[in-house]
Amino acid sequence: MKQLSLLDLRSEFSLFADDVRRAVYDVLESQQFIGGPAVTELEQKLAERLHVGHAVAVSSGTDALLCSLMALGVGHGDEVVLPAFTFFATAGVVARLGARPVFVDVDPRTFNIDPERIADAISDKTSAILAVHLFGQCAEMDAINGITSAREIPVLEDAAQAIDATYKDRPACSLGRVACLSFYPTKNLGGFGEGGMILSNDDNIAEMARRLRNHGESAERYIHCEVGGNFRLDTLKAAILLVKLRKLDEFTARRRRNAQIYDVLLEGSGVTTPHVGNDRKHVYHQYSILCDRRDGLRSFLSERGIGSGVYYPVPLHLQPCFAELGYTRGDAPVAEDLCNRILSLPCHPMLSDDDVHRVAACVHEFCGTTMPSREAVAQQDLAV
Ligand SMILES: Cc1ncc(COP(=O)(O)O)c(C=O)c1O
Repeated sequence: MKQLSLLDLRSEFSLFADDVRRAVYDVLESQQFIGGPAVTELEQKLAERLHVGHAVAVSSGTDALLCSLMALGVGHGDEVVLPAFTFFATAGVVARLGARPVFVDVDPRTFNIDPERIADAISDKTSAILAVHLFGQCAEMDAINGITSAREIPVLEDAAQAIDATYKDRPACSLGRVACLSFYPTKNLGGFGEGGMILSNDDNIAEMARRLRNHGESAERYIHCEVGGNFRLDTLKAAILLVKLRKLDEFTARRRRNAQIYDVLLEGSGVTTPHVGNDRKHVYHQYSILCDRRDGLRSFLSERGIGSGVYYPVPLHLQPCFAELGYTRGDAPVAEDLCNRILSLPCHPMLSDDDVHRVAACVHEFCGTTMPSREAVAQQDLAV
């Protein structure tokens, strides 16, 4: 039985292995391993692609968030508002700066921060809102910017999972004051190792981020006006990302096609398929369904050679390291419910239509329901 994993990075690699080898060899020949033309080219290409003035390559998505908050001056005594349902890094960076994460419940349909709850979470200590574009779908950015603009609170986009997603035809990363990408190997644009990018139209923030990634060094060598860190992206990783970037459109289209097929085939199964706002382009970093018998479904799929993932099993307000913040069960009921019912199905670009059919058929078998016919899929206007 062919194994259908949640990811298939080995097959993806086979599509560009020769180009990667050439790019790595060129960097080795140059003997320049920090900065250089590959890093600059990656920054320029992503700034252009995502319609922002500046892109600053850094060492990971986490460091992109950390460095962005530092550039905004967030620190001790400040509060940062963020969703209760996201990857840990989004909140971890806030706490590491001595600021307080203020957790807000999420929208039960999009899983993104619920704008209606943000106003109540804002205080005179709020120094930023961190909106996460979870699983590859943009948060409700107009509503979020509307709440914060009168109070001049900067909005950060955590777009780690959402490169090339759009909101009202505008790309993720161009929608707030500053945005962050992750190039963690499993991300839609995944590198060979850690990596990230800070994007902003704000000249001062970009300038500050450039200094902070290099220990806060000013234009004058060995003079440090701020304390930064070593948040630099390696040249080798940038060169490999440039090769992988050439395939991003094709890979995203394939993810979207897989999702469209699932949407049709899972109809009538009783599981809830992802809701996509009609002003948004979802890039399906994860295709996450809701199922009341989630753990049973997961084991059932696993026994049939199909991988799946639980992102995320515990909401951030209930993480042990945040116990002292005083949150209790019931403070973010939607996030808590999602943690019990969410399941990500394989949606990576190496899946064939038949693979997606096989996964959907297994979901129906588990649910005791009948899958729609192949004709139902044929009637769709599929992405590729
Ligand atoms: C939503 C979100 N934020 C931040 C990060 C952190 O990125 P990285 O793993 O590159 O540090 C990730 C990815 O792991 C993520 O999914």
